[in-house]
Amino acid sequence: MTPPVLLKEYRQRMKLNAYAKINLCLDVLGKMEGGYHRVEMVMQQIALCDEITMDWQAAGQHGGADADGEMSSAIDIRLTTDRADLPADESNLAWKAADLVARTYGGERAGHVIIHIEKRIPMAAGLAGGSSDCAAVLHGMNRLWDLGLDVGKLCELGTMLGSDIPFCIMAQAASDEGNRSYLGDDPLATHCAIARGRGTDLEPIPGLRSHIFLTTPSVHVSTREVYEGIDGETIEERPDIDGMVRALAEKNNSLIEKNMVNVLELFTLKRYPVVVYTKNKIQDTCRHKALMSGSGPSVFCLCNSEEEAADICRELATMNEESFCTQTTY
Ligand code: C5P
Repeated sequence: MTPPVLLKEYRQRMKLNAYAKINLCLDVLGKMEGGYHRVEMVMQQIALCDEITMDWQAAGQHGGADADGEMSSAIDIRLTTDRADLPADESNLAWKAADLVARTYGGERAGHVIIHIEKRIPMAAGLAGGSSDCAAVLHGMNRLWDLGLDVGKLCELGTMLGSDIPFCIMAQAASDEGNRSYLGDDPLATHCAIARGRGTDLEPIPGLRSHIFLTTPSVHVSTREVYEGIDGETIEERPDIDGMVRALAEKNNSLIEKNMVNVLELFTLKRYPVVVYTKNKIQDTCRHKALMSGSGPSVFCLCNSEEEAADICRELATMNEESFCTQTTY
């Protein structure tokens, strides 16, 4: 019998930044089919990011032998992270992203997709950390396999995996250096967007330029729990989304601050008093309005300068272990 032919090994590595997001305002307008809620919100990318390393190690076409001499007939996905409390298996959105691309565009390819995540973004925190890792892997697969997918097509894939993922894809197209070099001119590449529907109908808008103080109380908040909880609440104060968009266009940061309203606070603040404590502490310290991001528990405020953000960070350092002096991307 003829031994399997070792086809030319094909190996590539890349690094991607998976940035966090904050919600400058968030409204819930009702329930949709499929258990989702209809939202209207403004999403803004920030500089705080996870670092993703991706390798594609091809075994050759048609199930040829891989670098270890083992036969491989399919695409094998391996995921590792620097955090013991983050599952690195099929349940991780980053793994699901690689699997979705492999199933959709794998074709005759065989080999290993190797992903490593260095976690910086607090988890289950309202900052889309997991969604952003997922978006980065979709971008990474697009580049490693030279698929030529545009931002809209990547967003279609992202929508299958989660509501925040399309925004992360659009924002990474605008900010990650490697992505930007070939997707930066895509009309959907943006740092800021209005999100409607379940959060996946996105309209790019001019974003916010500001230093940010961000802090995450050490409670894990389930998005599902918060959305279910908000159904039982009477919403009295809603954000003026048009007002926020105008304020952003005018680059009027004090008006932006005034328009920062998140209706999900109504549930999360009652359920998790530590979030109220955190909000009050920030507001007492710096006199800026503090707002919860997404379903929480992270809270942020705009700062006039890097020095101010650093001062608040120093002053409140003992409050939460995960506190950051960061900025928006633009
Ligand atoms: O889309 P994603 O998987 O991130 O959503 C997690 C959960 O949050 C959903 O299963 C749903 O319960 C809730 N959700 C919602 N309405 C949205 C987004 C999320 O009810 N627009």
